[in-house]
Amino acid sequence: MRKNLVAGNWKMNLTYPEGLALVGEIVNAASSAATGANAPEIVICPPFPLLHGVGQALPQGGKFHLGAQNCHQKESGAFTGEVSPKMLASVGCEYVILGHSERRQYLREDDDLLGQKLKAALAAGLKPIFCVGEPLDTRESDETFNFIGKQLADGLFHLSNEEFDQVTIAYEPIWAIGTGRTATSAQAQEVHAFIRERIARAYDGKVALDTTILYGGSANAQNARELFSQPDVDGGLIGGAALKAADFATIIQSF
Ligand code: PGA
Repeated sequence: MRKNLVAGNWKMNLTYPEGLALVGEIVNAASSAATGANAPEIVICPPFPLLHGVGQALPQGGKFHLGAQNCHQKESGAFTGEVSPKMLASVGCEYVILGHSERRQYLREDDDLLGQKLKAALAAGLKPIFCVGEPLDTRESDETFNFIGKQLADGLFHLSNEEFDQVTIAYEPIWAIGTGRTATSAQAQEVHAFIRERIARAYDGKVALDTTILYGGSANAQNARELFSQPDVDGGLIGGAALKAADFATIIQSF
């Protein structure tokens, strides 16, 4: 179901006490902020060791939800250092980010592996936030639509309608992540509309209209309102600005 949504991707930041302090501040700042018909669902995605504690600190049954930043593709077994979707669900996770460009780039996660992770996450009842986005040279050579179209086709469109219904897409141009160089709202809208059109082709128009598509990449308290006002932008996947409670609260109010 399509909805406004803001997810905070804490990446590999914050110790356990620091994370608990931040989530306390976010809950305080955002509780009064996020009311009204347009109020977004809020997903906090801390590193694995902080998940349970941060989840406990979130008010239950409301607009706050817990998410992880990755999961393994198997349910259990001899995979030292890995965390399964079932484990994430057992500590209260509802969402999991998959296909983030940092994992595609540094951990060599490809579409085949991501396909397995998607299936495993869905089987455990998690809702994937699936990231797509082009590098700078792709944008500069006018290949953005081809690149994103292929990521969608290879990474996502193998899912059944029922599975796809659980997925949120995040468009994150790699050149905008952590660089302070945000896509303009027109650039974001253009790609979001393209993604929706491709979903309509792969599934149907209703599925496309029902899909939540987030923008990510240097979204902040100053530019969120302009980005979220675009017709096909349903919210944001926020990195750096999610580590500052006041900024994150402002972003949540930017609908
Ligand atoms: P950023 O990160 O907001 O710091 O650019 C976004 C993301 O990578 O999810």
